[in-house]
Amino acid sequence: MTTEPIITARGLTKTFTVRKAVVEAVTDLDLDVQRGELVAFLGPNGAGKSTSLRMLTTLIPPTSGTARVVGHDIAADPAGVRARIGYIGQGTSAGHNQRVRDELLSQGAFYGMPRRAAASRAEELLESLDLAALADRKVQGLSGGQKRRLDIALGLIHSPELLFLDEPSTGLDPQSRANLWKHITDLRREHGTTIFVTTHFLEEADQFAERVLVMDHGRMIADDTAVNLKTTLAGDVITLGFASEQDARAARIPEGTVDGTTVRLTVDRGDLVLPNLIRTVDGVTSATLRQPTLDDVFLALTGRSLRENEGVNA
Ligand SMILES: Nc1ncnc2c1ncn2[C@@H]1O[C@H](COP(=O)(O)OP(=O)(O)O)[C@@H](O)[C@H]1O
Ligand SMILES: [Mg+2]
Repeated sequence: MTTEPIITARGLTKTFTVRKAVVEAVTDLDLDVQRGELVAFLGPNGAGKSTSLRMLTTLIPPTSGTARVVGHDIAADPAGVRARIGYIGQGTSAGHNQRVRDELLSQGAFYGMPRRAAASRAEELLESLDLAALADRKVQGLSGGQKRRLDIALGLIHSPELLFLDEPSTGLDPQSRANLWKHITDLRREHGTTIFVTTHFLEEADQFAERVLVMDHGRMIADDTAVNLKTTLAGDVITLGFASEQDARAARIPEGTVDGTTVRLTVDRGDLVLPNLIRTVDGVTSATLRQPTLDDVFLALTGRSLRENEGVNA
C-alpha cells in the first residue's frame, strides 16, 4: 500500500522565450493530487493550464521545479510516467482515415499491448463510451462529440491509473458536453481512475469536480472544493428591485451597488439578510437571492470575471 499522492509537483515553473521576450507561462506550481480524485483545473485562456499539463505528462520539460506522477519522476523517468497515464490534449483528435476500432488497436500496439489484450480492452471501451455502433466507421466521419469520446477511449486503452484531459468539452454542443461528462464521471466510479481535467467552463468545474484549482497568469490562486471556495471567497448575491433609479438610490443600502433600478449586494447569509432588508427598506418591488458561483469566486480573487475571457483564443 502506498499513500504517495498520484501527482506531486513542487515549484514547477515554465518560461518561454519568444523573440527575446520572456513569457512566464507557469510560476511555482505546488500540487498534490490523491488517488481517485477528480480535479478540475480552472482558469481563463492563457492562464497556464495546458503548459502545466504538458509538464506533468512529460511532453515539455519544466524550466525549474520537480514533479512525480504515478510514482515516477517526470525528469528522471518520463517513460515510466507515460506508460501509466492517459493524456488527451487540447483539440487533438484522432484524424486518421482508420476505422474507429482499428484506431484503438493501433493505439494499444503503440503502448506495447499484446493484440488480444488490446482487442478485448477496445471492445470494453467501445461499449462503455457508446461507440460500439460506430466501431467500423471511419474516424473522419464522426461528429465532434463522437470524436471526443474516441479520444477518451484512445487515452484509456492501456488502463491508465491517471487520466489528463485538456479542455475536453471545448467546441462541443451542450448535449455532447453533458454526455462527455457522464462518461468521465462513470469512468471514475467504475474504475477509480484519477482524473485531472482543465476547463474554462465554470459550470463544469462546479458540477463535476470535488476539487477545483484556479489558475491565473501562471499562478495557482485557489485550491479547494467548489463549495468551500464559494462560501469562503464569494457570498450570496441579493438583488433588490425598485420602481425607479431614484428610489434605488434613496434606499441607501450599505455595501449596495446601484445599477439602474436595482441594488446589488453580497452578504454571508442571504437567507437571513434578505427578509430583514425587505422589512426595513422602503420601496422594494422585487427581490432575488442567488447562491455564489465560481465566477463570483474568480471575481473575488482577481477583480475580473472569468466569463469575460470565454471565447478569447489562447
Ligand atoms: N510553446 C510556447 N511558446 C511560447 N509561449 C507559449 C507556448 N505555450 C504557451 N505559451 C504561453 O504561455 C501562456 C500559458 O499558455 P497555456 O498554458 O496554453 O494556457 P491555457 O492552457 O491556460 O490557455 C500563454 O501566455 C501562452 O501564450
Ligand atoms: Mg490550454
